[in-house]
Amino acid sequence: MTIVELAPEHATAAAHLHLAGQSGTFLTELGPGVLTVFYRALPRSAAGFGFAAWSGQPDQVIGFVSATTNTGQLFLEMATRHLGELLPVTLARCLRHPILLWHSAQTLAYPLLTREPGEKGAAELLSIMVAPAWRGQGIGTRLLEALVGECGRRGLTTLDVMVDAANQGAQRFYRRHHFVERRQISLYGRALCLYRRELPQAHPGGQ
Ligand SMILES: CC(C)(COP(=O)(O)OP(=O)(O)OC[C@H]1O[C@@H](n2cnc3c(N)ncnc32)[C@H](O)[C@@H]1OP(=O)(O)O)[C@@H](O)C(=O)NCCC(=O)NCCS
Repeated sequence: MTIVELAPEHATAAAHLHLAGQSGTFLTELGPGVLTVFYRALPRSAAGFGFAAWSGQPDQVIGFVSATTNTGQLFLEMATRHLGELLPVTLARCLRHPILLWHSAQTLAYPLLTREPGEKGAAELLSIMVAPAWRGQGIGTRLLEALVGECGRRGLTTLDVMVDAANQGAQRFYRRHHFVERRQISLYGRALCLYRRELPQAHPGGQ
C-alpha cells in the first residue's frame, strides 16, 4: 500500500469511497456527480490538498484524506471556475431533492461556524475515508499522518474536523490522534462536533 498525493484522477474513486463511508451528510446528499467534480477540483486549488492510499492494483484507491486551508475560497472556486461542470449535476440532484437548495444556502455560513474571526494558520480536514474491507489496518492513520506532515510543511498551526455527533467510530479515531473536541454545532438539521488538533511548529533552520 502506497500513500500518494491526491490528484484529479482519483476523483471518481474518492467520490465512491465518500458515498460508501458517510451517509446522510450534505456532501453525500449531493450525489456522485457533484462529489466527482468536487474531488477533481480540490487538488487543483491552491486552497486544497490531500492524499490517497493506493493498494498496488491498477487504479485501486482504497482510501483518501482531503483538506482545505480556506473553505470559503474552495466553495467559491467550485461555484465560479467549475460552474460549467457543476451546474448540470447539481440542478439534476436539486430537482430530485429540493432540500438540497436550503442545505446549499446553509453552506455559505459554514466558514463562519468553524472559524474564529481573523483566525490564521488553520486547516480543515474535509473527509477521510477508507474502503470498508480495508479498515482497522492503519491506513486511516497513515493518511492522517501524511496530511499532518503536509500541514507542517505549509506552516499551518491547527487542523480542524467537523464530525457527525452520531459517528462514534470516527470520533474515537480522531481522539486517538490528538484531536480535542471544541464545541457542538447544528447544521443541515444534524448535530456536529468540531474537533481540533494543534500542530507542532516547524522551527527555523529545521531544528
Ligand atoms: C475513520 C476511518 C477513516 C479510519 O480508517 P482506518 O483505516 O480504519 O483507521 P486505522 O486502522 O488507522 O484506525 C482504526 C481506528 O479507526 C476507528 N474506526 C472508526 N470506524 C471504524 C471501522 N468501521 N472499522 C475499523 N476502525 C474504525 C477506530 O477508532 C479504530 O480503532 P479501534 O478499532 O481500536 O476502535 C475509517 O474507519 C472510515 O473510513 N470510516 C467511515 C468514514 C468516516 O466516518 N470518516 C470520518 C468522517 S470524515
